[in-house]
Amino acid sequence: MTRPMAGPAQSRGYHMARRKLVYEGKAKILYEGPEPGTLVQYFKDDATAFNAEKKAVIDGKGVLNNRLSEFFMTGLAAIGIPTHFIRRLNMREQLIRQVEIVPLEVIVRNFAAGSMAKRLGMEEGTALPRPIVEFSYKDDALGDPLVPEEYVIAFGWASQQDMDDIVSLALRVNDWMSGVMFGVGIKLVDFKIEVGRVYENDFSRLILADEISPDSCRLWDIETGQKLDKDVFRRDLGNLTDAYTEVAKRLGVLPSNVTHTPTKPTLIN
Ligand code: TMP
Repeated sequence: MTRPMAGPAQSRGYHMARRKLVYEGKAKILYEGPEPGTLVQYFKDDATAFNAEKKAVIDGKGVLNNRLSEFFMTGLAAIGIPTHFIRRLNMREQLIRQVEIVPLEVIVRNFAAGSMAKRLGMEEGTALPRPIVEFSYKDDALGDPLVPEEYVIAFGWASQQDMDDIVSLALRVNDWMSGVMFGVGIKLVDFKIEVGRVYENDFSRLILADEISPDSCRLWDIETGQKLDKDVFRRDLGNLTDAYTEVAKRLGVLPSNVTHTPTKPTLIN
């Protein structure tokens, strides 16, 4: 299921050759949008882990994450959480509002796992006394280090008011996401969001940005504990597309043939 990493031109495809590239990240590309203040967010099949030390291309991942992020963002918007999502354009692209990204990974944890379990010597899956919100400074060269709120404010990455807004937004996202996932037999162990600033008249406000997908969450089957998120790739636990497809199926957002999306003509014998 994996093939060597494609270069930007390959992952973009010929049909977008004339579009202006704004930013290319590890899993997504941003292009100039049709109107000022908009961007097109393209979901690649590229998967990376451990600050891109481990890489692969996973057929169908971008299509699944585009659909799943649309599902989560529209659901969150419906309960009043402002997001950058405008509409999905096609299998791999969505139209979004341009934002100024706050340089933080905002992580919410309901159960100990991953870096928290490691740092504190806790068993993965231990329930936390309450949801815990933490922040990493977005800097690949530094490996996105965990930072206290004090640093964020002192260095001016966000104000105290921004941080209060970010925590309350993150907890609302957690409540909605936990409930939706519980409804389909999945435990939301933890997740990461990013927020962006938009300017409206003389005011600025913070909105949910980036993506919400199994790339940025830990999702465990409630009954079996099976992992249905990017840990399948990080820890070599099986087929990542199958895991994401399972999440999409349970949520009812699966286009029926999502795992068969050839990028070039295929000979059929
Ligand atoms: P962690 O336990 O590795 O710190 O990860 C916490 C959550 O954040 C987990 O759901 C995975 C997600 N995450 C990202 O989305 N991007 C990242 O670069 C990392 C390290 C974690």
